[in-house]
Amino acid sequence: MAARGGEVTGEASPHPTVSGDVEVGSYLEIAEAEAMNGQAVQAADPVAPERPAARDAVAILDFGSQYSQLIARRVREAHVYCELLPHDVSSDRIAALNPRGFILSGGPASVYEPGAPVIPDFVLASGRPILGICYGMQLLAHQLGGTVAPSTKREYGPANLHRGTGGVRIFGGLPDSFPVWMSHGDKVTEAPPGFEAIARSDNSDLAAMADGQGRIGIQFHPEVVHTPRGRDIIKNFLYNVCGAEPTWTSGNYIDQAVADIRRQVGSGRVICALSGGVDSAVAASLIHEAVGDQLTCIFVDNGLMRREEPERTVATFGKHLKFNLRAVDAVDRFLGRLNGVTDPEEKRKIVGSEFINVFAEEARKLGTIDFLAQGTLYPDVIESTAPETRSAAKIKTHHNVGGLPKDLPFKLVEPLRYLFKDEVREVGLALGLPEDMVWRQPFPGPGLSIRILGEVTEEKLEMVRGADWVVMSEIKAAGLYREMWQSFAVLTPLRTVGVMGDFRTYGHMVALRMVTSDDGMTADWARVPYDVLARISNRIVNEVPGVNRITLDITSKPPGTIEWE
Ligand code: XMP
Repeated sequence: MAARGGEVTGEASPHPTVSGDVEVGSYLEIAEAEAMNGQAVQAADPVAPERPAARDAVAILDFGSQYSQLIARRVREAHVYCELLPHDVSSDRIAALNPRGFILSGGPASVYEPGAPVIPDFVLASGRPILGICYGMQLLAHQLGGTVAPSTKREYGPANLHRGTGGVRIFGGLPDSFPVWMSHGDKVTEAPPGFEAIARSDNSDLAAMADGQGRIGIQFHPEVVHTPRGRDIIKNFLYNVCGAEPTWTSGNYIDQAVADIRRQVGSGRVICALSGGVDSAVAASLIHEAVGDQLTCIFVDNGLMRREEPERTVATFGKHLKFNLRAVDAVDRFLGRLNGVTDPEEKRKIVGSEFINVFAEEARKLGTIDFLAQGTLYPDVIESTAPETRSAAKIKTHHNVGGLPKDLPFKLVEPLRYLFKDEVREVGLALGLPEDMVWRQPFPGPGLSIRILGEVTEEKLEMVRGADWVVMSEIKAAGLYREMWQSFAVLTPLRTVGVMGDFRTYGHMVALRMVTSDDGMTADWARVPYDVLARISNRIVNEVPGVNRITLDITSKPPGTIEWE
């Protein structure tokens, strides 16, 4: 879904586009993938976990809409399991999922285009409920004998929907008229045999249609927030039309994930890199719940984290949760390799490859390890049909970190593989992880090294940590932390003249970067109240030696990036 600052473009970022919750574990994921591509890891055998069983499911067929993932998130929010599958999915995969019904996403094609994607025949013949959204509705009409009028003019934006007499199940509980969001060119002008119009808009007498057998077409988008009652329509389809039970809950998920992990891991040993972020924390907690001390966690202190972060991570997992934890102090190694380096991409490469070195050394010390845990999320594994949603979904680091060494042939355990980020948070809270960790804003793998413009030194790290500490505490105190995608300080090499008491100062300039975003692909600068900005500015210049001037970054992304390097 588009960020508040603008549309998702899917364009490549000037520097690597990366996971929203950036984990050092992502270095491992990349290293693993690279090792596999190059066939460097002989015995590597990633075992996909069982897909969650014993639940009602719905299949969403992706026809390339930028909103396809959002449909899946809405269905999951209604506590029904779903998978987002390519529109040309095989009947075997559908049989394995055994869905109660289908949702057809919108898409950019026109049914009249040669080669336009179509609904598979076995789906139409399944006798199960189908909800066609936008292009999905047009396909239902086109393939079942109705008429779709081609149009070069798009209807885009808000519209009012007026219900007819039918559509009792899909529109149950909704008023006679309600606002919806339209985004389409072609429209259905004649319903297929057996279907009737169940709603009209000012632009169309056939804004929704149904056949009384659970096959429904709607021209608008119920998944976007601009259709305020959209969630109710999706729930009506799931519960009233498909008869699905809302059993997809974090409690049920945990029970099942624990059973699956036990089955997969058996008596093997698992290793997991902790970063302080939510994905690795939840993945490790699920595995710990399942196999206890068969799991060893590794936490690498690279010296580039924020104030108290390494201590907090060690205290949470080592002392409170009593995980088998190896905390490695590698500060000197990282800072040594970064010495004199000013190029941002060089910094990224160094931090990534040094992480793999340290991790591999620690892994070797542990003797035989069978499994590597990774916090891969569902958006990373969705096979999207639209290149732009694929690139939006697969937001990953592309650092050149090299493959994992040949002598570490791990199999993968990926307990979050079927979860969206918001579900990961729910599971984390249900497992008792601290709220601070579960709601942590994304933090880049190269850490503070890319928030110090130019060379990284211990003195500069202290400055940026001090400034970051003030930003974080004031933003949290003002209740703004969760509203923002990221809020942080950047230490610039610019030095300016100032005055403090009777003295002239010549200190560094710090920039405040605070943005709202849905996925990090686009972002807008956050409108933070003046009094909060005033407190932050005042405190940084007073509390952080060496800093005497504060500026505010008011650039959106694009054209700016979120980080400054
Ligand atoms: P940009 O600066 O490209 O950032 O707008 C988008 C998101 O990615 C994070 N980011 C990184 N994460 N390694 C990471 O693990 C990196 O090299 C990196 N660079 C940017 C950034 O914090 C934001 O959330």
